[in-house]
Amino acid sequence: MFKFNFSADNTAEAEEQPKVIQTEETWEKSKQIQFKDSSILQDILKNASTINLPNYPDCKYIDPSEIVDILLDSENETPVLKAEQNHLDLIPAVYEGGLKIWECTYDLLSYLSSEKIQLEGLKVLDLGCGSGILGIYSLSLGATCYFQDYNEDVLQYFTIPNVLVNNKGLLERSKFYSGDWESFANLIGDSLTEDEKFDYIFTSETLYNVQSYPKIHKVFKLLLKKSGKMYPLVRHMMIYFLKILAYLSLDAGADLR
Ligand SMILES: C[S@@+](CC[C@H](N)C(=O)[O-])C[C@H]1O[C@@H](n2cnc3c(N)ncnc32)[C@H](O)[C@@H]1O
Repeated sequence: MFKFNFSADNTAEAEEQPKVIQTEETWEKSKQIQFKDSSILQDILKNASTINLPNYPDCKYIDPSEIVDILLDSENETPVLKAEQNHLDLIPAVYEGGLKIWECTYDLLSYLSSEKIQLEGLKVLDLGCGSGILGIYSLSLGATCYFQDYNEDVLQYFTIPNVLVNNKGLLERSKFYSGDWESFANLIGDSLTEDEKFDYIFTSETLYNVQSYPKIHKVFKLLLKKSGKMYPLVRHMMIYFLKILAYLSLDAGADLR
């Protein structure tokens, strides 16, 4: 198990490097998640507050701490709460930290917005989406978006509600997948023609576990168009960049930003 040594809202601590202890885990297989109109979802939509995105007030998200409270009240046995109750940011292969917003999401959003990256009619993958803010931003510009998060409950109780509070109609251009990256790449990679692959892959604060580097590489290799672009964003960019270069071959013609 490991814990990031910082909280999203403590900048001084956030400068420390996350530590990862490698263990033998069994990773969940990937599957497509259908929108489920549950009583918990209704409770979240009715009672939790929404927050406008800094610098991009057209998009909003639901306060994740209020979602945690609703899940606690519901006595739902979700892996998300297992981490919460043990004061951990994540538990490898159990809960991967999607039920909060990590700072790099804001940085990547602000980059996409300030560079006026055109997304209309394009296909985007928000990889390790958590809140799904990057995907929701892409949808708002006319893209279609696949949202991937390891935890089904993060998708059901955070990502999907966030799409709904922005505009229910955006669901029509969205797909949701849970589970491990390797099986996600296999699940959808085989069925995609070159034209059906992603124009953009956005992934924020996802490169912290060395065991997962070959898996994320597989996602890029199988799912990104040859002309596509990927935007991985993490803290300590140089450290991770040097590590991940060992895994990322650019022979697929991918444009690594
Ligand atoms: C620290 S959270 C970051 C969430 C969000 N991108 C953000 O910046 O707020 C890491 C995310 O990476 C995803 N993730 C990490 N390792 C994964 C793996 N091996 N397979 C699938 N998803 C993984 C999880 O879904 C999790 O939401």
